[in-house]
Amino acid sequence: MKKYAFLLGSHPLISFLEILNILTVEKVPHGSIERMGEILIIQLKLTAAKLNKLQDILGGTIKIIEIVDDYRGTIFQLDKILTRENLLNNYFAQHSSKINFGISVYTTKSLVYAEINWLRNFAYQLKRRFKDQYSIRYVDEKNFELSSVMVANNKLVETGAEIVIIKQEKSFLVGRTRTVQDFRSYAQRDMEKPSPNPKSGMLPPKLAQMLLNLSRDTGQTQVFDPFCGSGVLLQEALLLDLDVLGADIDEEAVKDTIENLEWLIKTYNAAAPKLGQDKIKKISVAGRVRVADATRSRWEKANQANTFIATEPYLGPPQRGPVLIHHAREISAELEKLYLGFFTNLKKNFSKVRRVGIVFPVIKTNEGLLYLNILEDIEKLGYIRRPFLPAEEAKKEALASHRGSLLYSRPDAFVLREIFVFEKK
Ligand SMILES: C[S@@+](CC[C@H](N)C(=O)[O-])C[C@H]1O[C@@H](n2cnc3c(N)ncnc32)[C@H](O)[C@@H]1O
Repeated sequence: MKKYAFLLGSHPLISFLEILNILTVEKVPHGSIERMGEILIIQLKLTAAKLNKLQDILGGTIKIIEIVDDYRGTIFQLDKILTRENLLNNYFAQHSSKINFGISVYTTKSLVYAEINWLRNFAYQLKRRFKDQYSIRYVDEKNFELSSVMVANNKLVETGAEIVIIKQEKSFLVGRTRTVQDFRSYAQRDMEKPSPNPKSGMLPPKLAQMLLNLSRDTGQTQVFDPFCGSGVLLQEALLLDLDVLGADIDEEAVKDTIENLEWLIKTYNAAAPKLGQDKIKKISVAGRVRVADATRSRWEKANQANTFIATEPYLGPPQRGPVLIHHAREISAELEKLYLGFFTNLKKNFSKVRRVGIVFPVIKTNEGLLYLNILEDIEKLGYIRRPFLPAEEAKKEALASHRGSLLYSRPDAFVLREIFVFEKK
């Protein structure tokens, strides 16, 4: 087994839980797991192809770093570890003539001035040391935190290395980045699809991936999104190699979803061989997306034991500032009816579906956060919340709510997303 460090995204707890569930679902053998803030250190047994696949499917992981060295000491001793020989043998991906490299540091306490200075000097010294035989370039980032965009644009993984230093209490882990999130592909599937339909509130593709990955169970190969909107979640599900079914009450939304899924299959499969990716299943989309009301319809195709639900129903009207409490209560009351209607219908018409990953809205009001008050009713219908974390641990987490859910939001948002995974008793 090798040690890897996963750099987690803007919601590290959700990213962490996503990884845990996927390791189980994908049956990846793993050893000890240690989380320090935005970094997750984990021992894994996997091939290079599987590592790339993990990076592609994990919406919450920004980089995966392979740990090469582990030493006790200070940062000023790094030159004893990163010798010319060690760099050529274990860090630089390609050492025929041209090397591009950069250095990133992840630490819970920021670096002091002397450390920053020393590191920068060290980087330039390295450059000088290799200059005799190599055309070497150092990608200087003043805060020692290269973004995935910088790593990709400078081709560090392919033509050299992003050397990553992880500072722990009394020791350092040093490694090289093996994969970074493919920002171009996310941007393409977010912005270039034919029918973006921004009016219904867009689910970010990375969040769609995380919701799918948090909700899946081993052996579940089909996902149903009964509020599919323009189909962001189903798009991501296709990329996860899941069979997809979608429905929406709005005819336009169904049309958009069909167009978007057809576009994804076509463009992705045309580009896949060039990018070294596997193609996705070519399916006939038309029979898999239909107009239906999630509070009253039935669909035998979706009522199967191999099927789970992952969905973001309507979150209410967008808000530009804190909502007055009486107005927020009115909005919530409407949404509670819709959500409960959905769960009631689920019990009646989709009895074989056992898992439901779902986003609830939480409204920021002038008197604090207002949550949908329907958990007891949902439990009475026979759906219980799957605990993401043991209760004691959840209390320490800023991103876990008092109700055992996960909170996802941008800093300036006035409607937050609350993520639950329910399981049928
Ligand atoms: C926030 S959007 C969903 C976004 C979607 N998850 C995506 O990935 O693009 C909500 C959708 O729910 C649909 N909707 C609202 N009430 C519904 C109902 N009773 N049954 C089915 N769909 C409904 C709306 O038409 C809208 O398209």
